Amino acid sequence: MNDDLQLIGPFSQIITFEGTSLRGALMDDALSIVEHGGILIKGEQIIDVDKYSSLAQMHSSATLHKVLEDAVAMPGLIDAHTHICFAGSRSKDFAARNSGIPYQEIAKQGGGIWSTVKHTRQASKQELVGLMKNRLSRLVDLGITTVEIKSGYGLSVEEELKLLRAIDLMRNNTPLSIIPTCLAAHIVPREYENAKSYIQDILNLLVPEVKAKGLCNRFDIFVEDNAFSIEDADLYLSELKKHGFDLTVHGDQFTTGGSEIAVRHNALSVDHLEVSTDKEIGMIAESETVAMALPGASLGLGCDFTPCRKILDANGILAIASDWNPGSAPMGNLLVQASVLATYEKLSAAEVLAGITFRAAHALGLKDRGRISKGQKADISVFPTADYSDILYQQGSLLPHSVWKDGLRIK
Ligand code: NIG
Ligand code: FE
Repeated sequence: MNDDLQLIGPFSQIITFEGTSLRGALMDDALSIVEHGGILIKGEQIIDVDKYSSLAQMHSSATLHKVLEDAVAMPGLIDAHTHICFAGSRSKDFAARNSGIPYQEIAKQGGGIWSTVKHTRQASKQELVGLMKNRLSRLVDLGITTVEIKSGYGLSVEEELKLLRAIDLMRNNTPLSIIPTCLAAHIVPREYENAKSYIQDILNLLVPEVKAKGLCNRFDIFVEDNAFSIEDADLYLSELKKHGFDLTVHGDQFTTGGSEIAVRHNALSVDHLEVSTDKEIGMIAESETVAMALPGASLGLGCDFTPCRKILDANGILAIASDWNPGSAPMGNLLVQASVLATYEKLSAAEVLAGITFRAAHALGLKDRGRISKGQKADISVFPTADYSDILYQQGSLLPHSVWKDGLRIK
């Protein structure tokens, strides 16, 4: 670690999100911009953000890192929902869906999640690490510095452990922060007669090993027809809570019910919400649970976007993630997806960028990142433009020129 003082800048604009509200609608003044700014770093942390000239004067011993003439700095992006620990492709599912066969029907016919499970079971832990490594390097190019990765394509105690161990290995092989989540409750595996017996095995056999080895502190469940029922989820989430795990739920993707159970169990986030009605929106907005929009799944399946405008106007907490997975969301490009979501849901730049920075951090239970302010991690993405509005306007084609993670330049 470099413990010397480092000064990065001067930036045309720094989007700091200093003091910006966690909840509700935002106008662009909420970006809290410092013009002609500099960022002072010591070790892994930001220690000051101010006009570049005054920081340079006050800290003449700092190592200077000059940037482009036109550059906008913003907090490193956070992709708070991915399934990038998988092997194989689902291009046949994509073609089948485009011929008119629904996602849930393909799953019933033996395609869908189960086909990825078959490929992923055949892959070794090292092969999965290699696949994730390539995917992570694409994320760095987009300016992402923290990524959540779910298991969920193993679907047996041993295979889920293999995936969680691969994700754990990956953590030591990348500069990015990886937040692992156990999604053993993705669908009921074919080897089990019913959801209850599988859930019992997860609780009795998988959970103790996860705890003993510290493989993750978050659990997810897919609440849906063809996956897990509300009753299954109720029992599962209550037991996991007793173990002290953080909870998150895939809910309201095709049918409602998942959001209610997520809020009832105080989940950190409920993700998808494409079919949430005003009733669910009101309930989520009154809760502490983050609503996570996954525009990549809407684009992948050709269905409605999460009702983000309504969630924000009801004072909910909205985050946005890629859902990168081989089935519903193969694109894996959060910048493109968040920009497109803005045009369909009529979101301000502040609302979108908050959703992929500090509001996404909140969904992961992280308070130490997502803003550019004193005490936060020195995770910074630098875009080659003088004006922040170019970032979303160019719909993902304007890529960061440089990326800093924990005070080190990684792109
Ligand atoms: O978030 N909906 C459930 N799980 C994933 C899709 C997984 C897959 O199709 O492989 C999702 O969309
Ligand atoms: Fe997902």
